[in-house]
Amino acid sequence: MTKPLWDKGGGALDAAAQRFCAGDDVTLDRALFLYDVRASKAHVAGLARIGVISSEEATALRGGLDEVATEFLTGAFVLDERFEDGHSAIEHLLGERLGDIGRKVHTGRSRNDQVLVAARLHLKDALVDLEARCLAAAGSCLARAAATAEVAMPGYTHLQRAVPSSLGALFAGHAEALLDDAETAAAARARIDASPLGTAAGYGVNLPLDRDGVARELGFDRAQVSPIYAQNSRGKLELLAVQALHQALLSVRRLAWDLSLFTTAEFGFILLPDAYTTGSSIMPQKRNPDVVELLRALPAAAEGAMAELSGLLSLPSGYHRDLQASKAPAIRAFARGLEGLALVPDLVARLYFDEARMLAAITPDLHATDRAIELAGEGVPFRDAYRRAAAEAADPEGLAGRSAAASLRARVSLGGAGNLGLERLEARAAALRAAAARG
Ligand code: ARG
Repeated sequence: MTKPLWDKGGGALDAAAQRFCAGDDVTLDRALFLYDVRASKAHVAGLARIGVISSEEATALRGGLDEVATEFLTGAFVLDERFEDGHSAIEHLLGERLGDIGRKVHTGRSRNDQVLVAARLHLKDALVDLEARCLAAAGSCLARAAATAEVAMPGYTHLQRAVPSSLGALFAGHAEALLDDAETAAAARARIDASPLGTAAGYGVNLPLDRDGVARELGFDRAQVSPIYAQNSRGKLELLAVQALHQALLSVRRLAWDLSLFTTAEFGFILLPDAYTTGSSIMPQKRNPDVVELLRALPAAAEGAMAELSGLLSLPSGYHRDLQASKAPAIRAFARGLEGLALVPDLVARLYFDEARMLAAITPDLHATDRAIELAGEGVPFRDAYRRAAAEAADPEGLAGRSAAASLRARVSLGGAGNLGLERLEARAAALRAAAARG
């Protein structure tokens, strides 16, 4: 292991204690490394603007940081346990390449704000991805909703057949949920869009750092003002981001559950494409919905991360090494969640439907509610209409002549099967896409 940054020649840390402190930090820092390099470049430019380093030194440092990034990307440099963490590695590599100039990179910053800014940039990108993936999934559900608006299927309550509905209505429901989730992701991103860089260890430094300029170069909306809050928000903002992720994964779980249920032989409404099913190692005839099931399992990972993150937040103000433990849950939950979400649009686009089976499941009794409402419309008090419709539903001939298609067409209030309001959902999706493109 290279000497820790904080080595000043005193007694060394016990080797096992050192391993314990590092944990899997150095591996997790691989997800943050390029953000750390970007932030380091911005920091260096800021130092030059206030004359703490010369512009030649800044150019050399920025060039050195670019080289470090290239070597990391090509695999020429591997971030591993030789270093205490990614921050140490960057300073070490710059020192090796640029000597004294390289060792100037850390002027006016602390690893406390260095890790904060890298984690913040990572989270921002993760939330941009989350929003885009929610919108893509919503778009795919909307396309299927439009194509299946007239495909009748039962609507269920308590998992019991209830009223005539449509496949389009089901997809519209999933689409609107995912639009909400995209908006939640955007809101979480706006909240965390503040640069902590320049707050150093949590109390600022005795330099007139150009914090706003650095925030601008890094594409932040603003600088986080209070250095103490910058530290106190670590973990808390990770939690907010994972909560936004969780919202989206709950929608994915609901969709996955529907697919899992409706693809059973007992329902036989929906067929999964081969590309999203697996086989059994022993039962030759089987196609298993493993992908859908693992999508259903995604919220559990976010919930674990949320529990871990909120468990860390019982701390007094300022930096504490405990906060290092906020990295793993946030990085892992997003990596897994985004990977799963990315599968949804194509999976949805390639589903097959057995329209005949869905239609056959609309037995005459499912028209009882329509019938009661119809009678009420003719002036019969609803409770009497309800009893008459119940009697008709119980009689095998009572409601036999009614058509599912007519029932769907008659559901004309906004959102009903005869008026899904897809153009409203499309307009909202388009507005969210345009806002996302503006950044
Ligand atoms: N790996 C550390 C973390 O994530 C970096 C900051 C270390 N700061 C310190 N004062 N020991 O929190």
